Amino acid sequence: MNSQLLAAFEARWVPRINTYLDENLRDCSDRDILTAAIRYSVLAGGKRLRPLLTLAVLTTFDQPVTAAHLRASVAVELMHTYSLIHDDLPAMDNDQLRRGEPTSHVKFGEDVAILAGDALQPLSFQWIADSGLAPSVIAQQTLALAQATGPTGMVAGQVADVKNTGHQLDLPALQQLHREKTGALIHYAVQAGTIQAPVPAPVAAALLKFADAFGLAFQIYDDILDVTSTPEQLGKATHKDAGEQKNTYPELLGLDGARAALTTAVTAAQTALREASALSQRNFDLLASFLTYFTN
Ligand code: IPE
Ligand code: IPE
Ligand code: MG
Ligand code: MG
Ligand code: MG
Repeated sequence: MNSQLLAAFEARWVPRINTYLDENLRDCSDRDILTAAIRYSVLAGGKRLRPLLTLAVLTTFDQPVTAAHLRASVAVELMHTYSLIHDDLPAMDNDQLRRGEPTSHVKFGEDVAILAGDALQPLSFQWIADSGLAPSVIAQQTLALAQATGPTGMVAGQVADVKNTGHQLDLPALQQLHREKTGALIHYAVQAGTIQAPVPAPVAAALLKFADAFGLAFQIYDDILDVTSTPEQLGKATHKDAGEQKNTYPELLGLDGARAALTTAVTAAQTALREASALSQRNFDLLASFLTYFTN
């Protein structure tokens, strides 16, 4: 695991992702307040992890990133930002800070925040559909995104989250919640790369195992950071999950137990990449470098 590989990849792609989002959201609605709310949340920053994962798969398989690939790869960030806007709403996690700024509903009101999220979902599909990629690629990616975010994916996880707040889930149920609310979209981000690039099916299957382990690790780490980090570091509220009796790894297993579960998930992700490597004789160091996120 080489953190400099990830840092160099971020330095190369995050500015391009941000410029793409800025330029392509300038006139995204005729309603100025809707355009403003969409731009406010999307352009507030964020790690851009999900498009980076897609682009890392393309890079690993020597797939040139054309304008069409970039559009279809950045689209996931619109879906992700919708999920954050709605996650922060008073009826959900009731948060006031996101990406270092007041949350959408604090800035624009609940009505416009809900609608900005509503608008970002179809816009995400739109960018895939009008990307200019081959029709079969568009169809597969659209299906994958719908499956990842719909009633058996991210939204199912969010329902499990809010409806079990105050009621402690056991480990299998918590793992399922994390896989759905966070893992599914990360699974999709890797899958989008395997759809866009010529990745043989067995290798794609190994990469999706990597994605699932990475996605679980990502939410466990998010749970840990809520306990160990600060709003200045994360740009969002911390020390909040316990008080609200959210189902998290540190709540269920303690901080040491959560850290052990994180290590287990990271190891599973590394094992999956070794499998992909054995199947394809390719170098997966770039994807492996994403695991250094958890050591910061
Ligand atoms: C936050 O996602 C929500 C979770 C799924 C834990 P990120 O940590 O990727 O948030 P940004 O995009 O960097 O703001
Ligand atoms: C968020 O989980 C998952 C989604 C947005 C789908 P959290 O509620 O833990 O995310 P943060 O901590 O608010 O970013
Ligand atoms: Mg939440
Ligand atoms: Mg939240
Ligand atoms: Mg959290």
